[in-house]
Amino acid sequence: MRAAFASLLIAVLVVVLGAGAVFYAGVYDVAATTPHWPVARTILEMARQRSIKAHAAGIAVPPGLDDPSKVLIGLDHYAAHCAVCHGAPGVPKGDIGRGLYPPPPDLTKAASLYSLAELFWILKHGIKMTGMPAWSDHGDEELWATVAFLEKLPGLSEQDYARLLVASMAHGGHHHPGGGDHDPAPPTPSSLLPARPGR
Ligand code: HEC
Repeated sequence: MRAAFASLLIAVLVVVLGAGAVFYAGVYDVAATTPHWPVARTILEMARQRSIKAHAAGIAVPPGLDDPSKVLIGLDHYAAHCAVCHGAPGVPKGDIGRGLYPPPPDLTKAASLYSLAELFWILKHGIKMTGMPAWSDHGDEELWATVAFLEKLPGLSEQDYARLLVASMAHGGHHHPGGGDHDPAPPTPSSLLPARPGR
């Protein structure tokens, strides 16, 4: 029993030292042009999903996220800060987004994989060791508005997105809480926002 334990310990040590030597020797390729090994990708994806779920568990979703004027504020924020990496309906990813590894996912699909609280947590804290920045300095109100927009995003066609963008510009665009831009937003026809099935 003791001998078995000792050999197990030695085996683990050999693996750890071996891995350390491989990394120290510079064999591991950190290039963004070289994808992860499938096993590394599986582990990282599992860690990301479990971590986001655990960390977002205590977050309460504020009421009123369906308010069309909130969705417009979120769209404005998305167009200014997110589309460059993630793209948008009818808007391809920009240079920065195209060169990143791991690649920024298409949020018209990926956003519906997360709950609203999880989306908020991702936006506020970002994702370590990827190009996904933390947006905590943008304030919770603006981040919740962006979550409200992400909730609608999977149902938006190119035309919907373009129309909403024009409506957001007509509202003065770029709303930042505390930025002196406090005109009450004119009412938005909710018909601009297609109902989102599910969740
Ligand atoms: C500089 C590029 C960049 C910008 C700007 C950026 N992101 Fe990301 N984002 C990424 C990358 C890269 C990932 C993938 C992270 C990963 O693979 O774990 C990501 C992941 C995400 C995810 C999780 C998706 C998933 O499938 O796990 C969400 C949600 C998200 N971003 C939303 C946003 C929003 C909203 C904004 C704007 C406020 C934004 N991102 C701005 C690069 C960016």
